[in-house]
Amino acid sequence: MSKNQNDRMEKIVSLCKRRGFVFQSSEIYGGINGCYDYGPLGAELKRNVKEFWWSWMTRRRDDIEALDASILMHSRVWEASGHVGGFVDPMVDCRTCKGRFRADQLDESRCLKKPSKTPAECGGDLTEAREFNLMFKTSLGPVDDGSSAVFLRPETAQGIYVNFHNVAQSARRRIPFGIAQIGKAFRNEINPRNFTFRTREFEQMEMQYFVRPSTDEQWFETWKSDRMDYYREIGLDAESLRYVEHGPGELAHYARAAFDIEYLFPFGWKELEGIHNRGDFDLTRHQEYSGKPQTYFDEETKERYLPVVVEASAGCDRTLLSLLCDAYDEEEAKGGNTRVVMRLHPKLAPVKAGIFPLVKRDGMPERARAIYDDLRTRFRVLYEQSGSIGKRYWRQDEAGTPYCFTVDSETMADGSVTVRHRDAMSQERIPAEKIAEFLDEKTRIS
Ligand code: GAP
Repeated sequence: MSKNQNDRMEKIVSLCKRRGFVFQSSEIYGGINGCYDYGPLGAELKRNVKEFWWSWMTRRRDDIEALDASILMHSRVWEASGHVGGFVDPMVDCRTCKGRFRADQLDESRCLKKPSKTPAECGGDLTEAREFNLMFKTSLGPVDDGSSAVFLRPETAQGIYVNFHNVAQSARRRIPFGIAQIGKAFRNEINPRNFTFRTREFEQMEMQYFVRPSTDEQWFETWKSDRMDYYREIGLDAESLRYVEHGPGELAHYARAAFDIEYLFPFGWKELEGIHNRGDFDLTRHQEYSGKPQTYFDEETKERYLPVVVEASAGCDRTLLSLLCDAYDEEEAKGGNTRVVMRLHPKLAPVKAGIFPLVKRDGMPERARAIYDDLRTRFRVLYEQSGSIGKRYWRQDEAGTPYCFTVDSETMADGSVTVRHRDAMSQERIPAEKIAEFLDEKTRIS
């Protein structure tokens, strides 16, 4: 990472803590590596990211059903999926500094004793690489006798595959159709890194689309382009997005074809989402391991077959981090000051509007408070009366709040309020009774 980009990332991390987007987990106990908590602004932003994805998948189209499967599943699921045998990363230990590193990411790792050097450069004595399974294991019930072992799911997708027939039958779906799910996943990453980019507990937004064999390549192309449209629509800079194809030697054990959508983070191009043609791998394996037929009977063609799956697997936390990185901006302002502004899309912004009285007298606080009370059950809005109006605007700029409505003497005379726009800092007047309509049009996720 260049010095500029390193500085930029440090500023983003510091803003996240200062303004309540992201905190280190268990901070007062010294923190826990690879786990993060979302603060007041972060939790709202995350809800909006999930809502946008959910709406994209299940509201804008009518061929995708919802699912919320449990995190703990039968341990045979993970044998069938290939995770027990093959969900491993190569790990090396350093006998000198006692660090543990991913053998395939030594260039990105830092020696524990000489942090300016990588474990390969520092002259440390590294062991041979060995395989490390990334699944977290726990036990079900009061007796831990080995037979009760279960895993925290490392992906949400398997919950969808094992419910394929339940969903198809209960929702009376015919192929092609998809199943969408948002939920936590856990991976015991050897080296969590880059803030919330690679963590041990994270949330996935996954959609599995079940299609007729021989139509999979066409559906794969459709989803590839749909998912890129999505990232542009949530406001990411098009120049900072790209596809990267997995070569034959890089494909996951389940994939026939795979493309990542990558974003240019300050720490380089990194994966946001994987689009995979998983063939009939998962349903074949679950059929084999469960002994329950997973085939689908097509009423139209009178054929019975195992559907092929096209998967769009996005990381919620990574999407959120990309939005924070993309939104962060600094502007030189009058008096040599720097305005920090988070240019988040209004639909995703944690707080939609600040409602301010210009001054704390002449009935303005009461009027502004009444507007706030009217709005707050429908929109995440904020009331603030302390500090100069300029300082209040700047505070909201840093939080990514796209609009501020100010009650001033004109409001008391004609009922209009000032709307101040975060990005251009321009102002206009609208009737106070039109604020809800204004916010609905600009911020509703649909
Ligand atoms: N079901 C397929 C699957 O899980 P993956 O490429 O391993 O595929 C999908 O993961 C997405 O989940 C990634 O693109 C990323 O956004 C997110 N993800 C994976 N591991 C993660 C981690 N350790 N921390 C944060 N997000 C992660």
